[in-house]
Amino acid sequence: MIKTILVIFYTQTGQLKQVLDSLLRPPCGNAGFSIDYLEIKPQTPFPFPWTRREFLDVFPESVMEKPAPLQPIPQTVQRRYDLIILAFQPWYLSPSIPISSFLKTPEAEKIFQGSDVLTVIGARNMWQGAFACVKEKVEGYGGRICGNIALVDRAPNLVSVITIAYWLFTGKKNKFLGLFPPPGVSEADIAAAGRFWEAIGPAVLNNRLDGLDETLRNLGAAEINDALARLENRARKVFTLWANLIIKVPKIRGMLLNLFLAELVFALAVISPINSLLGVIIKSLRRKSGEC
Ligand SMILES: Cc1cc2nc3c(=O)[nH]c(=O)nc-3n(C[C@H](O)[C@H](O)[C@H](O)COP(=O)(O)O)c2cc1C
Repeated sequence: MIKTILVIFYTQTGQLKQVLDSLLRPPCGNAGFSIDYLEIKPQTPFPFPWTRREFLDVFPESVMEKPAPLQPIPQTVQRRYDLIILAFQPWYLSPSIPISSFLKTPEAEKIFQGSDVLTVIGARNMWQGAFACVKEKVEGYGGRICGNIALVDRAPNLVSVITIAYWLFTGKKNKFLGLFPPPGVSEADIAAAGRFWEAIGPAVLNNRLDGLDETLRNLGAAEINDALARLENRARKVFTLWANLIIKVPKIRGMLLNLFLAELVFALAVISPINSLLGVIIKSLRRKSGEC
């Protein structure tokens, strides 16, 4: 019997759609599946490329997960599927506004209820907080997360900050100054996403989604960098304080956003390298004491 998949996604740059195309059109083929797509579209599209002000302006609402109006969700996708793939990206360590808005709709509740959900993330390199938010919502609706694929920019943290800023503010995904690596998920990683289908396809066909998460982990689908996870945890707390304050005092929003930006730049330039160094020291101490 044909298995049905619903792919729910939002993408500004097209990167996440490229990942999905590579995942769902693998060299081994995907015969036996019928795939529907639901692209999440805000009523007022978010800008791309961004200006500095526009980019900063979505910070408080992203962190506090304030919903934005979306275009209607077609009735045709509000039915049972054998697998739902939810592809999203973090904005300020939270799910992007279009995705968090979708997650708050009654249609999302209906779609996720009792469903198996595979998440696919395309991020710079900090996605764990956003994933935790999405997981909580899906499970709150009675859905099951049966696996997660998170593709990231593999460049060092500071390098990827510079190159993503270049990409998001110019719209160009090429080498900044001809020197830096191209921003975002690499073409090689996008092209290699099809290998995950070799685990997903048979798991869906044989109704064996229970073991999929572990199989995907073994394939390196969502590698965790301890140093970045530590940094992200701390940053999320600070982001929540700033976002709350900015929403509560709208009169000086512009000034507060600029202060937040100043702190962000300081944290990236000073705290992030210290954190990476700490990570290296902890790793070598663990190695010396025989821990893995
Ligand atoms: C406003 C904004 C905030 C972002 N914040 C994060 C973040 O916190 N962590 C991260 O890894 N990537 C972050 N990114 C990068 C996106 O997750 C995503 O990888 C990139 O924007 C590609 O966009 P697309 O998936 O919409 O095509 C951010 C991007 C934008 C536009």
